[in-house]
Amino acid sequence: MYKERIFTVLLTILLFISSGAFSQSSTGKIVVNADLGKNTISKHIYGHFSEHLGHCIYGGYWVGEDAEIPNTNGIRNDVVEALKKVNIPNLRWPGGCFADEYHWRDGIGPRENRPKMINTHWGGVTEDNSFGTHEFFELCRQLNTEPVICGNVGSGTVEEMSKWVEYINSDNVSPMADLRRENGQEESWGVQYWGVGNENWGCGGNMTPEFYADQYKRYATFCRNYGDKELRKIAGGANVDDYNWTEVCMKKIPHHMMWGLSLHHYTTNWWDKGPATGFSEDRYFETLERCIKIEGVIDRHMTIMDKYDPEKKVALVVDEWGAWYNVEPGTNPGFLFQQNTLRDAFIAGISLNYFNERCDRIKMANIAQTVNVLQALIFTREDKIVLTPTYHIFEMYKVHQNATLLPTHLKCDSYEYKNKKIDQLSVSSSVSEDGTVHVSIVNVHPNKSSELTIDLRGKKVSKAMARILTSDALDDHNTFENPNTIKPTEFSNFKLKNNIITANMPAKSVIVFDIK
Ligand code: AHR
Repeated sequence: MYKERIFTVLLTILLFISSGAFSQSSTGKIVVNADLGKNTISKHIYGHFSEHLGHCIYGGYWVGEDAEIPNTNGIRNDVVEALKKVNIPNLRWPGGCFADEYHWRDGIGPRENRPKMINTHWGGVTEDNSFGTHEFFELCRQLNTEPVICGNVGSGTVEEMSKWVEYINSDNVSPMADLRRENGQEESWGVQYWGVGNENWGCGGNMTPEFYADQYKRYATFCRNYGDKELRKIAGGANVDDYNWTEVCMKKIPHHMMWGLSLHHYTTNWWDKGPATGFSEDRYFETLERCIKIEGVIDRHMTIMDKYDPEKKVALVVDEWGAWYNVEPGTNPGFLFQQNTLRDAFIAGISLNYFNERCDRIKMANIAQTVNVLQALIFTREDKIVLTPTYHIFEMYKVHQNATLLPTHLKCDSYEYKNKKIDQLSVSSSVSEDGTVHVSIVNVHPNKSSELTIDLRGKKVSKAMARILTSDALDDHNTFENPNTIKPTEFSNFKLKNNIITANMPAKSVIVFDIK
């Protein structure tokens, strides 16, 4: 009897081992030097981009004063409320490709007199210009966020751009400032961030970098400073790995003329974008691999910038980033509407960790695009909104805004798939003014948890709290019918002893620790 029982126990152990259950956890060791931080993570890394595209502006923010959807001066209250909760630091507008065919004078004055145009880039729909300069600044006022305007180089003129700056920023007696006053805005808005064109290597005019650099100098010269605020001008940057574009801009444009140089990087396979939901593990792995590759590409651009600007005076501005998949079946292909899943939460978490880590050069980044388009934070339908997993990452990570980056060392196992591998974990840490340390960690492995240790050095830790974002399936998402499938919850499965946190971090999850 006794022998039989021993045999059964041994057999159970053997079966347990051979089932692979032992291999369902791996390790991750994180060391955070809490007293060695130097650089500030600009809050503008957590910035946004909203274009006249699909239902981003129209239906996303703007419903008009007469709409039944609760609004303030025509702008949806629910969207404003939700974005204020992520401390939205800036908003880039009006494009995108749309910027280089936008003529700002079409969007001012009484709405009934504003001319209509065709939005040739995005679905060929009629743009009635009901959302223009005044409406954009009203949106920024309600959001308490900094405007980032992108001016038209591709089809505009130097004079047109120069006058837009004057219209927005001049408090003098001047034709443009007077026109603004006639249109109901007495005080200038004092915009600070100004993009000079968008993707001028492509939809913004198909220019060579040499030609663009010369054009930039002309346009930037006439974007004047008004009052005591210096305009922070952003030169249109390279497409993904076009290093020559960065090289030429850094060489030809005097650095005092550009606050920043931009870069666009979408996580996408341009030949075969794949679906936003219902994807295979092949797709999942490939997407994450692409997301992580951004690091090498951006590092190479920064190496070029370092060569010309070792003091890092010119910022790298990643003013369009995020996942880009096939549009949802049955929707307008020009509206770029895609679902948003746990996979997108990982893309957001990994990208933001990386931007934090490079905050000595990256001073601004803008996810594309805030509402209803590409990797959106919010979906709207009539009077309802849905917060996506990407929204929840921005909300969980907001603790990093303006905090000091902490040197963080990570040693972790890999997520291996079909003879390829990527790091299972991604991490970044910061300390905010009140001394709280924030550690954000992504575990991309679909089925392996991680036995995690976080070794806090240079700080006496008394307590810690954490929140987690996870779900059963990688393509779980929130819908109007089930808006809360994925949302952050408290995570308490960890121990704190001798300044070291040990935790079992579940597979496919994001955790943010707040450590006091
Ligand atoms: O975000 C969608 C588009 O992607 C933008 O309009 C353009 O700048 C980029 O190619």
